[in-house]
Amino acid sequence: MTAITFDKVWKEYGDHVVLERINLDIAPRSFVALVGPSGCGKTTFLRMLLGEETATRGQILVDGVPLKAEPDSDRGVVFQRYSVFPHLTVLQNVMIGREFEKSALLGKLFGAQRRTAIEEASKLLYEVGLAGHETKYPASLSGGMQQRLALAQALNRRPKILLLDEPFGALDPGIRADIHVLIRRIWNQNNLTVVMVTHDLSEAFRLGTRVIAFERPRNRPEELERYGATLGGDLPVPPVMPKTQAGPQPGATITQDFEVWPRKIAADLNGASAAPDAPPDLSLPKDSEKALH
Ligand SMILES: Nc1ncnc2c1ncn2[C@@H]1O[C@H](COP(=O)(O)OP(=O)(O)OP(=O)(O)O)[C@@H](O)[C@H]1O
Ligand SMILES: [Mg+2]
Repeated sequence: MTAITFDKVWKEYGDHVVLERINLDIAPRSFVALVGPSGCGKTTFLRMLLGEETATRGQILVDGVPLKAEPDSDRGVVFQRYSVFPHLTVLQNVMIGREFEKSALLGKLFGAQRRTAIEEASKLLYEVGLAGHETKYPASLSGGMQQRLALAQALNRRPKILLLDEPFGALDPGIRADIHVLIRRIWNQNNLTVVMVTHDLSEAFRLGTRVIAFERPRNRPEELERYGATLGGDLPVPPVMPKTQAGPQPGATITQDFEVWPRKIAADLNGASAAPDAPPDLSLPKDSEKALH
């Protein structure tokens, strides 16, 4: 069970304040969706949680212990694109993390260890719908398949925290709906705390048990570098269903559950295209929720 705490965290690059005074408590097993406009610091936030970047001020705690200053197998990450290795086959891409973990010097396993690693990687590939593609190279996979592969790669090291940085942003809507079902299933079946950043409010509400927006209280051009983004409060999410029925009921429309739509945030996130009175389409893709059960 993995809880995460951001305690008054700041991130600055020289004089440029990217994030300021981030306070956040994430309970174990949450699926937190963080939304925010381009450039507000979403990836920077995730990279701090991954251990690739350090906070300039404040601290990040995982299960009450200050975060280690470098990535480890407790945290897996999937980026928007290209997190798989083009020169390795599908199977090798999934195995590589485990091979380096067990054999840091050679990056290769032998004998029984290798057979076990192949079995585990094959099982994961089956789970993400890539069975039969083990010997292919990423270039011959579609975008959706590459992201499934990236998920399998991240999951193979059995992370406790899964970080997703707009992993579905480049996918077509139909493929995206399928992969949403997959990620919910993975989250349901594994003991994972998920933190996902996205531009897309409807995706955030479809997947998250919590949805939180980055806000820029000071947003005039001359203030952009001097003041950073911070996290606002939780946006109202429909009540969480029991684990076996995670997600809204089939046929439900999430918008029905909102008393008050946070129009300003929606308009900020969606830019000029968002009509202030028209929340984005949050209806569920047909049949997708059935496959979760
Ligand atoms: N290594 C770095 N050095 C200097 N500035 C950086 C560095 N990494 C990020 N930044 C700056 O921090 C700000 C936030 O960047 P970040 O990539 O976190 O935004 P984002 O919200 O993920 O944007 P997008 O939605 O476009 O992915 C940007 O102004 C960026 O230029
Ligand atoms: Mg980003």
